Amino acid sequence: MTNNPMCQMFGIEIPVFGFSHCRNVVAEITRAGGLGCLGTAYYTPEQLEWELKWIDEQVGDKPYGVNLLLPQKYETVGEGALDIANLPPAHVKWQSDMLDAGGVAQLPAQERDALLAAELSRLHMTPEFAGELLDVALRHPNVKLLVSALGSPPPHILERLHARGIKVGAMTGKVEHALKHKAAGLDLVIAQGTEAAGHTGVVSSMILWPEVVDAVAPMPVLAAGGIGRGRQMAAAFALGAHGIWCGSIWHGTRESDLTEDMKQLLYKAKSDDAVQTRSKTGKPGRMLRSKYTEAWVRPDAPKTLAMPWQSVLNVEARLRIDRARALDYMTCPVGQIVGRINQESSVKQVIYDILEEFADTMEKLPEKTGLA
Ligand SMILES: Cc1cc2nc3c(=O)[nH]c(=O)nc-3n(C[C@H](O)[C@H](O)[C@H](O)COP(=O)(O)O)c2cc1C
Repeated sequence: MTNNPMCQMFGIEIPVFGFSHCRNVVAEITRAGGLGCLGTAYYTPEQLEWELKWIDEQVGDKPYGVNLLLPQKYETVGEGALDIANLPPAHVKWQSDMLDAGGVAQLPAQERDALLAAELSRLHMTPEFAGELLDVALRHPNVKLLVSALGSPPPHILERLHARGIKVGAMTGKVEHALKHKAAGLDLVIAQGTEAAGHTGVVSSMILWPEVVDAVAPMPVLAAGGIGRGRQMAAAFALGAHGIWCGSIWHGTRESDLTEDMKQLLYKAKSDDAVQTRSKTGKPGRMLRSKYTEAWVRPDAPKTLAMPWQSVLNVEARLRIDRARALDYMTCPVGQIVGRINQESSVKQVIYDILEEFADTMEKLPEKTGLA
């Protein structure tokens, strides 16, 4: 793999990149010779400092990355305004009634305010807040990749990162966005098909990857969305990608900090149980189907709120569902590869299995096609 451009760009052994909010997963991917990238969506600067310090201790001199929600467009609100009290009352009532009807217990009245305040304090998506997280990331020399989740980073941030030798990538679900990232001077793009977990577009990986590769060449492209085995990795390379970027497949590893309840739900889920829903953030995102996601597409459901208000609304629902252990209502971001996540594994094993099947596929492909 040493001639692979992504391996050369980062000095890594295998072109396997992985996204996770969980530091153990990130560190393990990097330790296995790939590059782990930490999602920072729910971290305060203090928590992020703590997490990155821990990762530094695990990875020696190996590189890792940080994924930031750097919003371009955002309904600017003061930090204090991200409050349940500022939500449309009809939405709050509908959601509460829906959970009541499902038998999901209310939060204990005496604890409710404190629980909500604690959760809401983790909900920051303003450019100012992203800037504070960035400052933290820049204090950690092993951070060699910054990935922007919501568009190209502004030029002043890009300059700052490049001056520090940090490569910058951005997620894209559309060729038009990939071209903007190229024009903005980014180093790589991650072409994420609709199969993926989290915020997704509508174009499938099979169509998107070669479109993006051709549009931005010679800029390197990581293929994301639906990769969890070696044949999919081989397909990504066949379609022109230079490496792979996986998110969902780590959910089934012992390093993942998902609850045991959630893991068990994922082990049982089929590919078509990963549905696109606006119910978590207001933007379309792929998540595990549950009674909660289903309720939001019922005829009586209100229109989901814009970002960040839907996330604010979702906070109480999530707390109620988790505390009540209401399994039917539990959900988390996951892509269609969920159908392949059937039992607990480890990050190392997942990577080993992917690489083994990849090598086998590459070896046998000429014979298999019958055209060699
Ligand atoms: C739980 C979870 C949360 C995610 N949150 C983000 C995020 O905050 N920012 C981001 O750029 N991508 C996020 N993603 C998407 C991943 O970066 C990745 O592109 C995607 O998971 C790849 O497709 P796959 O799920 O089929 O592997 C998330 C994925 C998962 C599984």
